[in-house]
Amino acid sequence: MAEVVIVPSPQAGGQLVASEIARRIRATPDLVLGLATGSTPLPVYEALRPALAGVDLSAVRGFALDEYVGLDPAHPQSYRTVITREVVEPLGLDPARIRVPDGRLETIAYAGEVYEAAIMDAGGIALQILGIGTDGHIGFNEPGSSFASRTRVKTLTEQTRADNARFFASPDEVPMHCITQGLGTILEADHLVLLAFGRSKAAALAAAVEGPVSASVPGSAIQLHPHVTVVVDEDAAAEL
Ligand code: GLP
Repeated sequence: MAEVVIVPSPQAGGQLVASEIARRIRATPDLVLGLATGSTPLPVYEALRPALAGVDLSAVRGFALDEYVGLDPAHPQSYRTVITREVVEPLGLDPARIRVPDGRLETIAYAGEVYEAAIMDAGGIALQILGIGTDGHIGFNEPGSSFASRTRVKTLTEQTRADNARFFASPDEVPMHCITQGLGTILEADHLVLLAFGRSKAAALAAAVEGPVSASVPGSAIQLHPHVTVVVDEDAAAEL
């Protein structure tokens, strides 16, 4: 079973994960990080700045999990913009070394293949940060996703679009499609760190960590991975 760490608050969880990332970067300056978006990893990104003070980050590489399809990359809610705003700029990372799947319609037919090749060229992802959706998705792998899936286009569920509507001016603005690392891609990272905070995540978290391994709960794929750390507050741990 995954190692489950219950922390008193999202901030404490953020500090814990940030200090582990800092330790890993000190040991391996060209560490390849897997970056998640959404609100869950924000305390990690906030804690990274003090944790990494004085550390040379010029060689660090990063790959985001997913991106909306058809949203202008400059849109304030594109994951390219979010990763730039929350991670690249505050930490002073080299933007050329931080990749986000390309969600532009012109290139979407081959964007998944290009992304997989880039991850492989980097030598794979060393530490993958994950959040979890209320429907059990990781990345944007919605229920029914194959455990062998690679980076590809998916249709967002109504539940996910409703959950993410808070980031947009109106629910209609939430894109219908996304491009996401597959469950097979995610499972190839060396170390998975799944974060969940708040009561709204308790059922999905318990299903992912302790429920049957099933494509109807994409997060349950983590049970197939040999090195998983789950960092949760008491509310998210309520159904464990
Ligand atoms: C989002 C992202 C996921 C994230 C999840 C939970 O839509 N695609 O990577 O883990 O859904 O989001 P949040 O952390 O905002 O609850």
